[in-house]
Amino acid sequence: MKNRLMVALDVADAEHALAMRDCLADTVAWLKVGLRLFVAEGPELVRVLRQTHRIFLDLKFHDIPNTVAQAIDSAGALGVDMVNVHAQGGEAMLCAAAEAAAAYPDMRLIAVTVLTSDPMPGDEARALALQRARLAQQCGLHGVVCSVHEVAAIKALCGASFLTVTPGIRWGGQDVQDQKRVADPSAAVKAGSDYLVVGRPILHASDPAAAAREAVRLMHAG
Ligand code: C5P
Repeated sequence: MKNRLMVALDVADAEHALAMRDCLADTVAWLKVGLRLFVAEGPELVRVLRQTHRIFLDLKFHDIPNTVAQAIDSAGALGVDMVNVHAQGGEAMLCAAAEAAAAYPDMRLIAVTVLTSDPMPGDEARALALQRARLAQQCGLHGVVCSVHEVAAIKALCGASFLTVTPGIRWGGQDVQDQKRVADPSAAVKAGSDYLVVGRPILHASDPAAAAREAVRLMHAG
């Protein structure tokens, strides 16, 4: 299960990122580098983190097709294991991204469907997520980022091997903060989520390694 848990390293700088990596040690196999850390530290830190962990570069590219394809090429050259674009970018952008990613067969390319913080009603979010998942698959992407609540429908539509990566994970009465469509780790696994993204419930815990172990324990329960 620890191979399916991704910790979002949403911390200020390399010092905090490396401290969290060391604190989590081998409790998790994946680290997610997002906007905050990448803007602060850039690819150098990614090169360091990838020596010990698999890396999901979560920059949600959304631009003209040529620019996104070039960014995907840079991510592939950097050696990350997963990278994402925003499905809202449309068909031409998704196809250009997939074409660029094809040069890096070990790198998974996924599309954000609807942000788990989006306040739109659940049935609307599900319909849009399904439509964008189908488009992403037709364009040759490997999967999507979605909420746990959309996983089963996306798997039914796109097939079991189409990856689902789910943020918005909370358990034990934790504060949902800005997330709207949340679920706990066992529900995520039960729904068929391939990878669970957890940030603040681990980063802000008094004992982050214990919080990560608890997430893994709950995943096993699913
Ligand atoms: O702290 P928390 O567990 O809410 O962090 C969730 C992480 O997943 C954040 O890094 C956020 O940027 C990312 N994410 C998300 N929803 C998406 C895509 C990514 O929350 N649809």
